[in-house]
Amino acid sequence: MSHESNYVPGSGLERWLDKRLPIIRLGYDTGVDFPCPKNLNYWWTFGGILAVCLMVQIITGIVLAMHYVADSQLAFKSVEHIMRDVNYGWLIRYVHMNGASMFFLAVYLHIARGLYYGSYKEPREVLWMIGVLIFLLMMGTAFMGYVLPWGQMSFWGATVISGLVTALPIIGDPIHTLLLGGFTVDSPTLNRFFALHYLLPFVIAGLVILHIWALHIPGNSNPTGVEAQSKKDTVPFHPYYTVKDGFAIILFLILFAAFVYFNPNALGHPDNYIPADPLVTPAHIVPEWYFLPFYAMLRAINFNIGIPFTDIVLINSKLGGFLVMMGSILIWFILPWLDRSKVKSMRYRPIAKLWFFLLVIDFFILGWLGGKPAEQPFVFFSLVGTIYYFAYFLMILPILSVMETPTEMPKSISEAVLADKKKSGTGETPIASPSPAE
Ligand code: HEM
Repeated sequence: MSHESNYVPGSGLERWLDKRLPIIRLGYDTGVDFPCPKNLNYWWTFGGILAVCLMVQIITGIVLAMHYVADSQLAFKSVEHIMRDVNYGWLIRYVHMNGASMFFLAVYLHIARGLYYGSYKEPREVLWMIGVLIFLLMMGTAFMGYVLPWGQMSFWGATVISGLVTALPIIGDPIHTLLLGGFTVDSPTLNRFFALHYLLPFVIAGLVILHIWALHIPGNSNPTGVEAQSKKDTVPFHPYYTVKDGFAIILFLILFAAFVYFNPNALGHPDNYIPADPLVTPAHIVPEWYFLPFYAMLRAINFNIGIPFTDIVLINSKLGGFLVMMGSILIWFILPWLDRSKVKSMRYRPIAKLWFFLLVIDFFILGWLGGKPAEQPFVFFSLVGTIYYFAYFLMILPILSVMETPTEMPKSISEAVLADKKKSGTGETPIASPSPAE
């Protein structure tokens, strides 16, 4: 909720600065005094966790870039040099490598929270759309980063995925050549990808600032989806949520450290420790785990779409797969207008909730299928999963928006909190009103 500033400059210097550049006021209003709904649960801590992930990736990435060489003859060796010779190079690389996975883990949970609690709905549509843009850039950054160590999966992943753009009519081939800096993946590609992989996180950081700005106009939503109406519904961000976010960040970092120190290669593919060889194709080309559901959707379209009873092909399987994969994320941009239900939180939407959990299961299954070879029955099941994925957004949510009867909602956040406390017996004893008999 945008609110009146309560900042009072504490010293002469602060008063002086406040008149010229009220930057301390901005920090105070956004990070200390900002009113937040008092019922936010741990699903609301992932935004802060994501900010930490972005910082970790930028800092470790800058150090790695000091030792990395973007040349097809030297890239693999330079990464081995980082791992063996550079002081704590192994740690910096493993943190960056696993950091990408942790970043995606957090962003998936952050998005799932938004889908379940209807955070994308009015008045937070722009906030949500900036988030979708951030997610797309995260995917681009991660894809290009994975090419840099120049292992077998780096090379073949880059070859397969960049080759997809050639499916686009007319502009496909020129874009492909521009992207690769030639006709095949080689040193010019590596240089381009390195430059963009360095640049994009800073673009993401800029978008995160817009994301937080767009968050601070309407303020946070909350698990009930009922907007804060009065001061009784909110608490200041500090200390309530600085402490809660801090605790969640510590737990998250413990999990992160467990991967880095005990099994740093668990999430990667062993083939990426084999130097890239353009003459040897790996048996299965698989992307990182966080791309697998989308990879399954890409491969689900293994047929051409044309005019029935003729040989005319309108969309070949390659273009179809590419469009479906891109569409599966682009569709999120219009989600606020697909789901028109006035009730935000699925807590009060019993039917939508069931379909949502099915979507989560569907997404996991697609992820599993994405890691399997592109053969039957996996491709068929991927198609079924893809159809459900699109049906959820394009049919189920729009239909439920008008058909579903929600359950009874609390009138305010305070009412919901007091009802919860009463149920668990932790609230203050309400002042008993005298019964008529007394
Ligand atoms: C670098 C990535 C990101 C960062 C650092 C980030 C940061 C944040 C922060 C700090 C908050 C407030 C705390 C919270 O609700 O957890 C927030 C809220 C939100 N974010 Fe993100 N975010 C990121 C990516 C995304 C993505 C990919 C989406 C959606 C596709 C998204 C959608 C939202 C929405 C809708 C809210 C409002 C939630 C509510 O109040 O109900 N964010 N984000």
